[in-house]
Amino acid sequence: MKNVYLDSAATTQMRDEVIDRMITVMQEVYGNPSSTHSFGRSAKSLIEQARKTVACYLKVKASEIVFTSGGTEADNLALNSAIRDLGVRRIITSKIEHHAVLYTVEQLQDCFDVEVVYLELDSLGNIKTAHLEELLKISDKKTLVSLMHVNNEIGNKLDIKKVGSLCKEHGALFHSDCVQSVGHYDLDFSEIPVDFTAVSAHKFHGPKGVGFAFIRKNSGLKPLIFGGEQERGHRAGTEGVHNIVGLEEALKLSLDNLEEEKTHITGLKTHFIEKIKTEIPEVKFNGNCADLDKSTYTLINVCLPVPADKALMLLFQLDLKGIACSKGSACQSGSDKGSHVLNAFLDEEDLKKPSVRFSFSRYNTKDEIDYVINTLKEFISS
Ligand SMILES: Cc1ncc(COP(=O)(O)O)c(C=O)c1O
Repeated sequence: MKNVYLDSAATTQMRDEVIDRMITVMQEVYGNPSSTHSFGRSAKSLIEQARKTVACYLKVKASEIVFTSGGTEADNLALNSAIRDLGVRRIITSKIEHHAVLYTVEQLQDCFDVEVVYLELDSLGNIKTAHLEELLKISDKKTLVSLMHVNNEIGNKLDIKKVGSLCKEHGALFHSDCVQSVGHYDLDFSEIPVDFTAVSAHKFHGPKGVGFAFIRKNSGLKPLIFGGEQERGHRAGTEGVHNIVGLEEALKLSLDNLEEEKTHITGLKTHFIEKIKTEIPEVKFNGNCADLDKSTYTLINVCLPVPADKALMLLFQLDLKGIACSKGSACQSGSDKGSHVLNAFLDEEDLKKPSVRFSFSRYNTKDEIDYVINTLKEFISS
């Protein structure tokens, strides 16, 4: 049986070079970065070098990077602190954000006197920027806009420069979850008017359990985690030096090889779209994902012509055939609420059918795509 991993939006396979570097650091640089002796200083200097590397690739200042346990923590840090420390009293977001943002916003709404507004979406899951503009004009409450750059389920890309400029024009703060875009795009944050960003290493062939928050200088954010002076007082806790170095190596390799790998992965996505249209003509593409200009090249989300009674078996069958992908469907069993992203904009008919997200990486091949589509075709016609 083949094993085909098409779930890189969930997490990626680590690069060998990243693993090698992490092992060396674990073996050789085991001092506590807060210790003042030479063992500690060596560890500290690796962290500071990683911070400089990350800042240099993103074109920001090293002091604006705070290493965290991943994207979820970085989202939590920005949102919580904006309410607690920066006087934000209104959050504008959307129903298609990651739960790291949505659940945090709900919790803030419960605990503080914060108004939450969800932006209207079109039938492809795009944010209506006219609605955002209107909302920014009508209130003088201090506002934080939180909108992700690339949607992790449907791949829709947001014009973050445009949204950031709108926020700036109206004095609102802008947080953008960039977990699915940093490492996949060459982003210049000196040109993007965003105040806070969340990034996660395991989405670009780095280790799990590490990421960072980009916090624009002098923003006034205070820590989410207390207990030590690590990360210049922004995040207490002994740093996972091997993880931070792994993140550095992974980001470096992803961005240094970006054009070549992007071309390869775009080729896979294009091949997937053409082949599935030929083999399964009734297929539908959710959101913008079939539009290469308006979606990320790394994923595709398809709504399949499968009756409801058979839909439950689909992922199980794919798994039996060695294919790893992600369910992107609406409710298909009593305990399963389905995808909150698709539920936010798909119509009733399409929500009844199974939707599946396939996400690609540098390690995938066209043969694997052919195998997956042939397997889907067999399942549909069985
Ligand atoms: C868009 C988005 N935001 C946040 C996260 C959470 O990141 P992490 O797994 O590093 O906590 C993910 C991971 O699935 C994601 O896709």
